[in-house]
Amino acid sequence: MGNKVSTASRKHRLLAPLRSSSSLTTRRKKKNKQSPSPSSTAYSTTTTASSISSNPSISDSVVRQGRAFHNISDSIYWLPHDDEEIDRLVGQHFALKALFEGNVAKEVLPTLEKGAKILDVGCGPGTWIMDLATEFPGCEFYGIDFSDMFPSDIRPPNVQFLHANVLERLPFEDNTFDFVNMRFFMLALRHEEWLIALKEIHRVLKPGGFFQSLESGMMDRGNDFCLWVGGIFMNVMRERGQEPYIAFKLKELMEQVNIDFIKSDQRDTYLSKTDQLNREFLWDIVNIVRSAQPFLTGPLGITPDKFPQFLKRFEHECKQPPGAQWLIAINLGQKPF
Ligand SMILES: C[S@@+](CC[C@H](N)C(=O)[O-])C[C@H]1O[C@@H](n2cnc3c(N)ncnc32)[C@H](O)[C@@H]1O
Repeated sequence: MGNKVSTASRKHRLLAPLRSSSSLTTRRKKKNKQSPSPSSTAYSTTTTASSISSNPSISDSVVRQGRAFHNISDSIYWLPHDDEEIDRLVGQHFALKALFEGNVAKEVLPTLEKGAKILDVGCGPGTWIMDLATEFPGCEFYGIDFSDMFPSDIRPPNVQFLHANVLERLPFEDNTFDFVNMRFFMLALRHEEWLIALKEIHRVLKPGGFFQSLESGMMDRGNDFCLWVGGIFMNVMRERGQEPYIAFKLKELMEQVNIDFIKSDQRDTYLSKTDQLNREFLWDIVNIVRSAQPFLTGPLGITPDKFPQFLKRFEHECKQPPGAQWLIAINLGQKPF
């Protein structure tokens, strides 16, 4: 068990300085052990937005091996919600946008151009939603997350953030949204919870509304060291009741909740390549493993003090022949008319 930090003190420690742009860069430079992602550094000076609701059920943080995690007892989500993780998610957002050449599947663009109501489930720091809200000022955006990572002061005028849990009833009427996005939930849901979340998404989607899911594959291509690390990561997921290859099961799951499957856009990243985008994904995967440290040290058979050394080796081995590859998939569906 980790040490508890009260929400108030965590907000004071994390959110207040985080939302003050000038102190953010200085503070993170001092605090972060991870090398800054080029895109996250650029974005960090402008990340400000506001929360419209505060749910009293939002719980305290738990500190594990120096990182702050949510303390929501019935959630299996196993990445932190501290400022290092926010940096990672912001950097990852811009890498994903470059990999998929945009924030949304092209089939959704005409809906956005007309003016639409959009929900981002598990919005984290709200980067996807604020990026899209700036691109489509005629649309109305809602971001929900059970953790308070999203900005709390200034936001684009067409964005609202709420605390909510997708496994409980979302605070929206049936048939509200033209488009629902849900990204990187593979470490957030148990296998059987996917259907609960997708049913709720189906409920709040309008007939004809689109659902976009983005999930990744596993570290299952690379040298023996990378395969060993990938295998351990998958074992931890399975022990937590999670499905490592959920990205490839979304078609079946969508169909089970009466969302018509449209397409799967699967793109590989090449972690041994030296171009900027692939370097960004190498940075991301190393920092995902870093964020998961408290859950990996035991299975890896190392003590926390040896983890930085392990991470350096992991980064090095990803670049060695045959070169590690990491697949990311966008699955698109539509609620029938
Ligand atoms: C890996 S992060 C991805 C954040 C964001 N979608 C992005 O791509 O940058 C997963 C997010 O889902 C949130 N989350 C996990 N389980 C949730 C649930 N049951 N309901 C709402 N949010 C949840 C976490 O707090 C976290 O912010």
